[in-house]
Amino acid sequence: MSKITAAITCVNGYVPETVLTNKELEQMVDTNDEWIRSRTGIVERRIQKETGKATSDMAVEAVKGLLEKRGLGADELDVVIFSTITGDLIFPATANILCDKIGAVNAWGFDLAAACSGFLFGLETGANFIESGHYKKVLVVGGDKMSSIIDYTDRNTCIIFGDGVGAVLLEPNTEGFGIMDRILKTDGSGREFLHQKAGGSLMPPTHETVEKRMHFVYQEGKTVYKFAVINMAEVSHQIMLRNGLTSDDVDWLVAHQANKRIIDATAERMGIGSEKVLINIDRYGNTTNGTLPLLLWDFEKKFKKGDDLILSTFGGGFTWGAIYIKWAYNS
Ligand code: UT7
Repeated sequence: MSKITAAITCVNGYVPETVLTNKELEQMVDTNDEWIRSRTGIVERRIQKETGKATSDMAVEAVKGLLEKRGLGADELDVVIFSTITGDLIFPATANILCDKIGAVNAWGFDLAAACSGFLFGLETGANFIESGHYKKVLVVGGDKMSSIIDYTDRNTCIIFGDGVGAVLLEPNTEGFGIMDRILKTDGSGREFLHQKAGGSLMPPTHETVEKRMHFVYQEGKTVYKFAVINMAEVSHQIMLRNGLTSDDVDWLVAHQANKRIIDATAERMGIGSEKVLINIDRYGNTTNGTLPLLLWDFEKKFKKGDDLILSTFGGGFTWGAIYIKWAYNS
């Protein structure tokens, strides 16, 4: 029997309608459009404004569209993995809420927390479910309502992040397409440079934690940048070497959209030209777990069956990694 690999067979995404531009941020904090564009590549980001709407609501839109595209009922899904750091509630898992909202009555699911690397870790987890032969349809969702944990008085962080959710369907493939290889890493000693101080069991919410604005993202940008620029480039290069891929072989770099300069450095280390580098940071900013599936969604039409894609990321934790995919279909 041929080896079962896990192939992405459909992608979809959702970003909220409300746009927050650099110009608008100029009115909120001491920053300017030129600084944001040149230091990050971001021009605008999307924000989920409506009261009472959460991460799962963006996922509902993304997943409903995905099921429609693939011609599937929600009851045909076996497993739902939701990679997010901004779940609707501390518990239960947002995967459960999503299953309920879309009617995925035959699926079981869970959330996966690995900050900006969550989607990549979710993809690997889902791939193993498929490769085991036990499951045929695994949905991997990645996304965040970052605006719910961003301090819009802190110019170090508020200019970077946005809201959005993407989703992919994994199905078995026996023709040699799908997820070919992965290198995934964590280093918890990096947690001090990027985290949310309060709200967890270490520091449950109190009046004081709220007053001290400890429920927002805290980032030492310069340090994170240094680690990101080295590690995302290195792991992307390593996965090429390990699979005998030259820069000519790689068709697309699908890299976490945290900073255009980090993406450029990764492409340079891989020796690939900018025409192969997918970019949407200018329109969405950093959507944390959403960046990779939203890129796949935005650029799906460019991919051809057999294309070699390198997905790579770096984020809080620290967490980072790269996955090599042989694309399985023509749109
Ligand atoms: O997705 C998770 C992983 N996260 C990342 O990969 C993010 C990594 N870090 C970064 O992308 C960058 O470090 C930032 C975009 C966050 C910051 O860019 P930077 O080039 O590292 O700037 P910096 O923090 O070194 O600050 C340079 C200067 C400082 O002023 P002085 O001390 O040189 O006078 C900052 O105070 O820019 C100032 N600055 C700003 N100026 C205008 C910092 N933020 C802003 C701002 N607008 N928003």
